[in-house]
Amino acid sequence: METVVSGIRPTGNLHLGNYFGALRNFLTMQNEHNCYFFIADYHSLTTHPTPGDLHGNVRQILVEYLAAGLDPEKATLYIQSDVPEVAELYLFLNMNAYIGELERCTSFKDKIRQQPENVNAGLLTYPTLMAADILIHRATKVPVGKDQEQHLEMTRTFGNRFNRLYNVDYFPEPQAFNFGNELVKIPGLNGSGKMGKSEGEGNAIYFADEPEAIRKKVMKAVTDSGPTEPNQARPDAIQNIFQLLKVVSAPETYNFFDEMYNTCQIRYGDMKKQLAVDMIAFTEPMRERIKAISADEAYVSKVARLGKEKAQENASKTIREVREIIGFKRF
Ligand code: TYM
Repeated sequence: METVVSGIRPTGNLHLGNYFGALRNFLTMQNEHNCYFFIADYHSLTTHPTPGDLHGNVRQILVEYLAAGLDPEKATLYIQSDVPEVAELYLFLNMNAYIGELERCTSFKDKIRQQPENVNAGLLTYPTLMAADILIHRATKVPVGKDQEQHLEMTRTFGNRFNRLYNVDYFPEPQAFNFGNELVKIPGLNGSGKMGKSEGEGNAIYFADEPEAIRKKVMKAVTDSGPTEPNQARPDAIQNIFQLLKVVSAPETYNFFDEMYNTCQIRYGDMKKQLAVDMIAFTEPMRERIKAISADEAYVSKVARLGKEKAQENASKTIREVREIIGFKRF
């Protein structure tokens, strides 16, 4: 049995990228492994949310985890800030994380470009906090999308460095995981290669979106004037739409439009209409459950309390052992 850890930042609602990159794996893994799934609210502080927004977003992701089918009896579902042991491990790991390697991290370089006015130390040390999330449970598998691959590599570096420094074999090497083997990257609708919360208006399809909002976003997706030669290579924006069809539509639907493209008969309007219909159908059951679970205040609180208890039990054991290894011994 593997120990599995993964998390999602509460900076907006869940989108299809989160689902196909991470959540879909959570749902199968919870049946077979020892799973810890959390809401990365410490991480979200790098963007300085207001207290009201922070709380609302954390609650929304918790509700969406449950609506997707995560079972708090099988997996441990918790809120990162309910387990301050994570922050202590983050401090220890930061003592042997080097500025150079943190500065070279791709996600940090992206942030410098995206938000030059807010390059805070939390962004620089984002990979150490993520390593603490994973190492606190001594995880072996981490279901994530392709964008998190480098962070996992850094987690292994920090864990191995700790082991070497103290001459122990304490932290196992966690591996990024997707049950299709390849890590995935779901594209956005506005020509962006990645569906994401910070990728601009109209880029992401959220489970909580109403059908009309989904239809509008899909119909606005970037296209071009169409192929002029049979079997022509597809520009990125068109390839993105095909990739989205592949994940939400039936194989026959995908094959039909694929054939239409290759024979230069494609009508993008028809393809987008079909994609919108399929996305609305795909998200429908979850949309309904989100509403029902969100209304059940007592249940949501109970799940959060149970998760905190279970996650802290394991995290405090790790912290006790790590303190001992470092040399913080009781007098
Ligand atoms: P976050 O909140 O950006 O995304 C949550 C999960 O969704 C995946 N994902 C995608 N996968 C495929 N295609 C996409 N377009 C797409 N967009 C998002 C992400 O890969 C991720 O698995 N740093 C993490 C959160 C985190 C974490 C951790 C994850 C903090 N600590 C420890 C695992 C283990 C993040 O920002 O994910």
